[in-house]
Amino acid sequence: MAEVAGRNCHAAVEALALERSYRGVAGQDLHIIRGLDLRVEDGEAVAIIGASGSGKSTLLHLLGALDRPTAGSVRVGGTDIAELDEQGAAALRNDRIGFVFQFHHLLSDFTAIENTMMPALIRGDDPASARARAAELLHQVGLDERFDHKPSELSGGEQQRVAVARALVNRPLVVLADEPTGNLDATLSEEVQDVLFSLGDRHRVALVVVTHNHEVASRAERVLRLMGGVLEDV
Ligand SMILES: Nc1ncnc2c1ncn2[C@@H]1O[C@H](COP(=O)(O)OP(=O)(O)O)[C@@H](O)[C@H]1O
Ligand SMILES: [Mg+2]
Repeated sequence: MAEVAGRNCHAAVEALALERSYRGVAGQDLHIIRGLDLRVEDGEAVAIIGASGSGKSTLLHLLGALDRPTAGSVRVGGTDIAELDEQGAAALRNDRIGFVFQFHHLLSDFTAIENTMMPALIRGDDPASARARAAELLHQVGLDERFDHKPSELSGGEQQRVAVARALVNRPLVVLADEPTGNLDATLSEEVQDVLFSLGDRHRVALVVVTHNHEVASRAERVLRLMGGVLEDV
């Protein structure tokens, strides 16, 4: 891949002519993603909106190497995910991508700090440096008093803020967020948006956020609508 004057010209994440079909119950093909192109630059924040069932989660799973396209390609930091085996895809997901889902998916037996440092431990970081980095991120999301709380001892907004800290602990290229505030009331939703956008900005992480929330969308640099299996400018 070409480099211009030492600058890396890989996008943080890129989809080219992406397609994903599912086999319907009657055996017919359901074409959900139909030749979609997307390029998100390092540090850029993009919001994706679209009707329920339009394929937003399907797209995020493809961009995050949680699923494989029927056709077309996905590159993360220039790496074509088609070239990765399952182990390589797992390493890419853990090391270069942060995920924030509607439900936090924190591990219930582990504390906030343990959950936050987990991706760093999986990567093989030294536990002391993983803990220090997790502590700094929990501080940045405003959870200094909650390091040793388990998920059941945290509010919904606090759980999502831990999920944001965890998503950033390995200094990913991109954070993929699927309706991260969909399960929260307005005040908590605002808290989570704040940490997501401000930390994305501070750490120069690209952000792709699927949302029904206009306020969330308005904080992104670009808003795209998924319709008919492709993205259009809004
Ligand atoms: N694993 C699957 N098998 C079959 N159909 C699926 C599967 N996952 C999603 N779909 C269908 O694909 C469409 C898009 O789903 P999804 O990506 O979840 O939409 P959104 O997140 O925009 O609501 C829906 O019609 C859904 O029923
Ligand atoms: Mg969805």
